[in-house]
Amino acid sequence: MLDELCDLATRVRLLAKSEPGARALRDLLPTRRAMLYFTQPSTRTFLSFNNACHILGMRTSEIRDPATSSEVKGESFEDSIRTFSSYVDVIVMRTKESGRAAQAARLMNNIPRPVPVINAGSGSDQHPTQALLDIYTLDRSFEGNGSIDGKVIGMMGDLKRGRTVRSLCYLMRNYRGVRLVFIAPEQFAMEADVKAYLDEHQIPYTETTDLAGALPTLDALYVTRMQTEWDTAGESRAVDLSRFSVGERELTRLKRDAIIMHPLPRGPEIDPVVDQDPRAMYWRQERNGMWMRVAVLIKIFAAESRLLEAEPR
Ligand code: CP
Repeated sequence: MLDELCDLATRVRLLAKSEPGARALRDLLPTRRAMLYFTQPSTRTFLSFNNACHILGMRTSEIRDPATSSEVKGESFEDSIRTFSSYVDVIVMRTKESGRAAQAARLMNNIPRPVPVINAGSGSDQHPTQALLDIYTLDRSFEGNGSIDGKVIGMMGDLKRGRTVRSLCYLMRNYRGVRLVFIAPEQFAMEADVKAYLDEHQIPYTETTDLAGALPTLDALYVTRMQTEWDTAGESRAVDLSRFSVGERELTRLKRDAIIMHPLPRGPEIDPVVDQDPRAMYWRQERNGMWMRVAVLIKIFAAESRLLEAEPR
């Protein structure tokens, strides 16, 4: 499935480069409608899903602030979701609370007109479509250098509360010989549930606070910011971020063919000077997100055969 989605994303990306290709894509799902229910702030995920829908000719509705929905009158979460499903064919949702998308999907399993639910980020728990676009970015980046198999992937920053790294760890069981290096302040180390999953699936990982020592061993460094929005008493301020940041000095220790990723938005953990380095992949990564989300929508609506017809022979 991951390989299929990466392949689909590439085919769509290439097709969209030409005017006739972009028009053919717009004709793929013109009768489908999406609800973008984003009650937690988002720039990339919202915009990339919105534009992914438009690329496929879909129409979108949105709620980005529960204060503008009938939730403010006391409507329950379940009733709100069921109402969305009366009007649209897919619900894409980002919430501050963990587990909400799963809750919505369970509700859909018990109503007469269910629609698919896509988790666009739930609490500090999961961000599955980010993990898909991260896989696509790793896959594309390693094209001339083998594949994801056998690579050493460093994940750095607030791993405890970072949902992107949590979701990405789960997908690593699909690759052979991958090793993970968690680089984090002790108080923001990767959570035990993810480590138990990695142990269960025999995915080796090490933990360190020594970025400089880890850098030369890595094929990819996935940097994350401090998730200050989850602080209850200014916990993030206690961290010396200079030990978990990438700048010119760190670039000299990183392999010449390694890549640097970041789900963005960034804080001080990546100096903007790094943007000029060819190993910086995060701007491409966020654009990959749009193509991967197009691929996800095509899969959900089983439109692959129609895509095939749209492609030049
Ligand atoms: N990577 C990511 O989820 O970014 P946004 O919060 O801007 O959507």
